[in-house]
Formats: sequence, structure tokens, C-alpha cells
Amino acid sequence: MAIPGAEGDIATTTGHREPVSALKIVPRHVAIIMDGNGRWAKKRFLPRVEGHRNGAKTVRMVVEESRRIGVRYLTLFAFSTENWRRPEEEVGGLMSLFVQHLESELDVLLKNGIRLRAMGDLSRLPPSVRELLRRNEERTKDMTGMDLILAISYGGRDELVQAVRKLGRDIQSGKLAPEAITEKVVSGSLYLPDVPDPDLLIRTSDETRISNFLLWQLAYSEIVVSPLLWPEFSRDEFYRCLHVFAGRNRRFGLTQEQVSGS
Ligand code: FPP
Repeated sequence: MAIPGAEGDIATTTGHREPVSALKIVPRHVAIIMDGNGRWAKKRFLPRVEGHRNGAKTVRMVVEESRRIGVRYLTLFAFSTENWRRPEEEVGGLMSLFVQHLESELDVLLKNGIRLRAMGDLSRLPPSVRELLRRNEERTKDMTGMDLILAISYGGRDELVQAVRKLGRDIQSGKLAPEAITEKVVSGSLYLPDVPDPDLLIRTSDETRISNFLLWQLAYSEIVVSPLLWPEFSRDEFYRCLHVFAGRNRRFGLTQEQVSGS
């Protein structure tokens, strides 16, 4: 598949280099668990927040490359419901980083046709972060190049709890019959009902857990784990993950014969 604007070459799974345009399939929705910032900082005797600060540079690279190759939805796990229990200094440092980047990156989003969206329990965020998220969401709402979704103060279980509450209220008010609840109805009660499920989940730093991310939506996503810590996750490594995905055989519970139609 020819990727407009995709130039240069990248390392593939076998280590040899190929043009970016050799990518056979571009996932429509990529979700990423950006892990390893703390370890990256610790190895360098730096405070953890320095790991996050360097991780923000990787965010920029991944956003740029995803947009360039035609990923339609990119979801980044920026802050989990569990992360609220981290030391105050780290939480404060992360919130300041969010403010800084939400202020400085709005122009970049607009120039590149990127719509910013947030998912999570935003009521727990400091007003400065919440307001900047709302402002950037509003300002970029007509952009159609790519949706950049920040999962922030987000938990997969939390999202399901709020969906169940909503459905409960609809049943109580007589708007919905319990028998009418289908998978589609549940999907429609999640934070961003119009966003398709991720095709590819990347997690860095060699960890192989889902960690309460997109529990419902990841049912049939392909998972690719990178050994690199998030601040050192490179363009080459991102493309290696995309090549691994392109080489996967997705069967969605069917047999190989059914999938290939033979
Ligand atoms: C996990 O690494 C990472 C996070 C909890 C935060 C991710 C945030 C960023 C990359 C900052 C910038 C983001 C945006 C959107 C501007 P960890 O701290 O759990 O690492 P560890 O497992 O090595 O301790």
C-alpha cells in the first residue's frame, strides 16, 4: 500500500531496512500503553518526572508518524485511575506536563488536521487540565485527519461502571428493556461510542499486562510488546511494531478457511 508522504526507510521485524511505504496494512486504530518512564529516569538517577518529560517527546513522534501513515485513531494511555495513588510530586509533575503540552501543541494539532479527544473521569482532574482539554477538544472538533484520544484519569473498569449506571438509569426510567441490551448497546454507552475498537495495542517496556486499559474494546485487538522503555521508543521500533501487526493473521474467532473464504 502506498502511503502518501511516507518517505525514508525503516527496520523491519527481520532487521533489514525497507521503505515506509512497504507497510502492507495500516491499522485504523492504534492504542498504546506508554510504559517505562519511571525506569528510564531511575537508570539515569533522575526524578521520575524527567522520565515523563522525555516520554512526551516520544508522544510527539508517535503522533506525527501515525498521522503521516494514515492511522485514523490513536489512543494513548496518559494517566490511569490507579495513577492518582502515586506520590503527590509525581502526580503534580504529570499534571503540569499535561498543561504545558495542551497549551503548546494546539497549533500543531490544527496544522495537521488532528482532532483531540479525552476519555476518562475528567471530574478528578485539576481545573487547569480539564479546561485546556475542553478548549482543545472544542477548537479541533472539525479536524478529520486523525483522532488523537488521550485516556486520562481513565480506567477500563471505571468506564464499564459508568456505562452500567447509565443503562440502569435508562431501564429505571422505562427507556430501555433489559432484553434490549446487546453488545452494541453496551459499546454505545462507553465514553467514545463512535470510535472503533483498536486493531493494534502496543505496550512498551516488555510488560505483558492490559492494566485496566480499554477492557471492553481490546477483545480482538492484536497485542505487540516492545522491549524499549517509552522515552527510548523510536520511530524504527514503532514501525517494527506496525510490521509485526501487518504480518498477523486476524481470525476474530473464525477458522482460517472461513477467513480466507476457501
Ligand atoms: C507509565 O510509565 C507512564 C505514565 C503513567 C504517564 C505517561 C505520560 C507521558 C508519556 C507524559 C506526556 C503525555 C502527554 C500526553 C503529553 P511509568 O511511570 O509507570 O514507568 P515505570 O513502570 O518504569 O515506573
